[in-house]
Amino acid sequence: MSNNLLKGKKGIIFGALNSSSIAWKVAELAHAEGAEFVLSNAPIALRMGEINELANKTNSEVIAADATSNADLEILFDKTLAKFGKIDFILHSIGMSMNVRKGIPYTENNHEFYLKDMDISAVSFHKVMKVAYQKDAMNDWGSILALTYIAAQRVFPDYNDMADAKSLLESIARNFGYHFGTRNRVRVNTISQSPTATTAGSGVKGFDSFISYAEDMSPLGNASAQDCANYCVVMLSDLTKYVTMQNLFHDGGFSFTGCSHKVMKKFENG
Ligand SMILES: NC(=O)c1ccc[n+]([C@@H]2O[C@H](COP(=O)([O-])OP(=O)(O)OC[C@H]3O[C@@H](n4cnc5c(N)ncnc54)[C@H](O)[C@@H]3O)[C@@H](O)[C@H]2O)c1
Repeated sequence: MSNNLLKGKKGIIFGALNSSSIAWKVAELAHAEGAEFVLSNAPIALRMGEINELANKTNSEVIAADATSNADLEILFDKTLAKFGKIDFILHSIGMSMNVRKGIPYTENNHEFYLKDMDISAVSFHKVMKVAYQKDAMNDWGSILALTYIAAQRVFPDYNDMADAKSLLESIARNFGYHFGTRNRVRVNTISQSPTATTAGSGVKGFDSFISYAEDMSPLGNASAQDCANYCVVMLSDLTKYVTMQNLFHDGGFSFTGCSHKVMKKFENG
């Protein structure tokens, strides 16, 4: 059922790789709620072709952009502005770690990979917003969102260098949020999502036990990708106009739970 929460709104959605992707679910729901948008992903991800199914379903155009490339982002924004005029929302749903992919532990991180990981998973958010800011691409009261994880605040040893990337990402949201707010009344936030079975999520070492632990620790259980999309759409809508520079936990209560009965039970004797 649609409530037309995004009726008339235009935007760019980064990061829909396949039907498990959080960005994919956001695109489906944003379309159902009346939004029009461009779908963007790295050229290599587009080669897999699955995004065309989403584009057909949501009646949207796909424009390739490596989010670490200023040149690609310039072209993406120029094409989007030519199509829609100024836009109302941007979703940054991008993450990748070479150190995670290669199974290199945090203490042994390869620093070439480390810098690449920061560039893809965090600095790209600054690059996207810088281009949007310079081109004055956002309508007043627009909304910019990125996805993050609680390893930015607390140690999850196998989250590896992605933890550092998420800390930086959240800091970029706060700082750009100030500048975008004062100039355009545009808000910038991050949503800190439960562990979710997607291509990026499943790459983390021990992901299955990670996801089960979070499930048992969270009073409401883990939030699904679909529920994350619901929250994203609310954050892109006019119902949240004064929420900015926040890191918003969407994790079933995990972030504020010290210990749960389910987890304690596993340590009881006899
Ligand atoms: N899955 C989880 O457990 C979880 C939890 C919290 C936060 N997140 C975050 O959610 C976001 C989306 O991830 P997901 O879980 O949907 O996984 P996903 O693998 O479906 O999405 C990650 C996307 O990043 C894109 N990407 C990688 N390098 C890129 C580049 N250079 N330029 C442009 N795009 C690039 C990939 O092509 C892919 O579409 C990420 O920021 C991730 O860290 C995921």
